[in-house]
Amino acid sequence: MQQDANYHFCRDLPTTPLPEAGRILVTGATGYIGGRLVPELLERGYRVRVMVRGIAPEILERWPDVEVAIADALDIDSLMRALEGVHTAYYLIHSLLLGQKKFESADIEAAINFKEAAEKQGLKRIIYLGGLGDVQSELSSHLKSRITIAQELMSGRVPATFLRAAIIIGSGSASYEIIKHLVRNCPVILVPPWARTKCQPIAIRDVIKYLVGVLEKPEETAGRSFDIGGSDILTYEMMLKILSEIHLIKRPFISFPLKTVKLYAYAASLLTPVPAAITMCLMESCHNDVICQNDDIRRIIPFQTMPYRESLVRAMSREESDNVSTRWSDSYPPAHELAIKLNEAESFPLYRSSYSMLTAKKASLLFASITRIGGKEGWFRSNLLWRIRGWCDRILMGVGVSRGRRSSNTLRINDVIDFWRVEDLKENERLLLRAEMKMPGRAWLEFTITPDTKSPAHVLSVNAYFQSRGFWGQMYWYIFMPFHVFIFNDLIQQIEKRSL
Ligand SMILES: NC(=O)c1ccc[n+]([C@@H]2O[C@H](COP(=O)([O-])OP(=O)(O)OC[C@H]3O[C@@H](n4cnc5c(N)ncnc54)[C@H](OP(=O)(O)O)[C@@H]3O)[C@@H](O)[C@H]2O)c1
Repeated sequence: MQQDANYHFCRDLPTTPLPEAGRILVTGATGYIGGRLVPELLERGYRVRVMVRGIAPEILERWPDVEVAIADALDIDSLMRALEGVHTAYYLIHSLLLGQKKFESADIEAAINFKEAAEKQGLKRIIYLGGLGDVQSELSSHLKSRITIAQELMSGRVPATFLRAAIIIGSGSASYEIIKHLVRNCPVILVPPWARTKCQPIAIRDVIKYLVGVLEKPEETAGRSFDIGGSDILTYEMMLKILSEIHLIKRPFISFPLKTVKLYAYAASLLTPVPAAITMCLMESCHNDVICQNDDIRRIIPFQTMPYRESLVRAMSREESDNVSTRWSDSYPPAHELAIKLNEAESFPLYRSSYSMLTAKKASLLFASITRIGGKEGWFRSNLLWRIRGWCDRILMGVGVSRGRRSSNTLRINDVIDFWRVEDLKENERLLLRAEMKMPGRAWLEFTITPDTKSPAHVLSVNAYFQSRGFWGQMYWYIFMPFHVFIFNDLIQQIEKRSL
């Protein structure tokens, strides 16, 4: 992806890089925050090791200068290897996508393991980013879990720095996409009483600056907790109103006595690209004021944080210039059953539909056209069918089809395209997508471009694979099979037509 000249957030940071500090480990590097932190550390001359759970060739493509350690925080042996020779570790592990029931126990187990491995490997520091919230009040389970993780990490022998943030505004952040799509997609904004809770949003660039800043101020920040926030304290209602002003969308705001956040969060999952697993966890915290209780960090790392309006404008301009570097949808638990890759399935899928056509177009043009599918480009004449299927999925609290894409032109492995995730990408040859919707089985969609053996033309093919789960899986396949002729023939024809 092309990165603009202002890409690095820390160029005006008032602290001095300490590259001699030693190796810096970034956990959660495939996630929203970690993915933005790594390039900043590299730019400041640090020796960076990223910890990821799956072997991911795209990591080295993105950051050729990093060391990659494959480790799962739930597996202490792999953690021990990943932490060997590390000076400071950023702890950015979060299992939100496992859903509300599972993430708390997974997160605490990961933190306990991490603390233990860090002590054994003699790390000098841990830096953790968690959530704001008054510990004296009754906090949501999500905020409580963030604080428990901090307490766990800070109780060890390795000095830990805890940065506490409320919602983070930036292109690709889940909170920003929820607010934006609520304003865009609701003709009337119903304002529940808890929308008047106070929040101190912070721009993603300021979060990254603080994360790097505390690394560079070890004496003042090791072993301490700091609240970080932007320059505005706003209610959620005000945040929605400001966004609608900036987007020039006029919406009536009407008070609504709905106290249950769950219902609202569920509705938000139907109206925004963010699925219920995330809206539920994030919006549950809307009952709690999340504002900074101390501003100590401003004296240690002094810079002007960005107002909410400006962070929205920056996020919008990044989207408009198609320059979103990480997105909430980037990380998906590899342990999740939907993350099983085609070449890892116990047996090759039994069900397959294949459609192909001969074309004189160049492989590079065909491939560029394939990589633009979904998102704003859509799924051509079968758009409506996909949408209906996606709505059914969202009702069942699945990912739906509206997740969109990080970038409309470029793709990397693990990117989301609506309800698919990129599993394999071979330039001018193959794009393999894995379905993440709820279905009685597993599905993949493969596009291939191969030279024709009898002419200078190319064969453009689409293959749908389905590994059925029992009787309902078979029914599912046979019910949808009659639509394949229309959907897949149209898909390759439109891709070919758009290969300009
Ligand atoms: N994003 C926000 O708006 C926001 C706001 C306030 C605070 N924060 C805090 O910032 C931190 C990072 O958040 P984020 O938004 O970047 O999260 P994220 O995008 O969901 O990424 C989470 C990361 O954790 C990794 N992970 C999960 N379980 C793991 C395990 N068992 N072993 C190793 N890695 C594991 C994931 O790796 P895989 O790719 O392998 O799944 C992923 O890279 C969290 O503590 C969060 O509370 C975030």
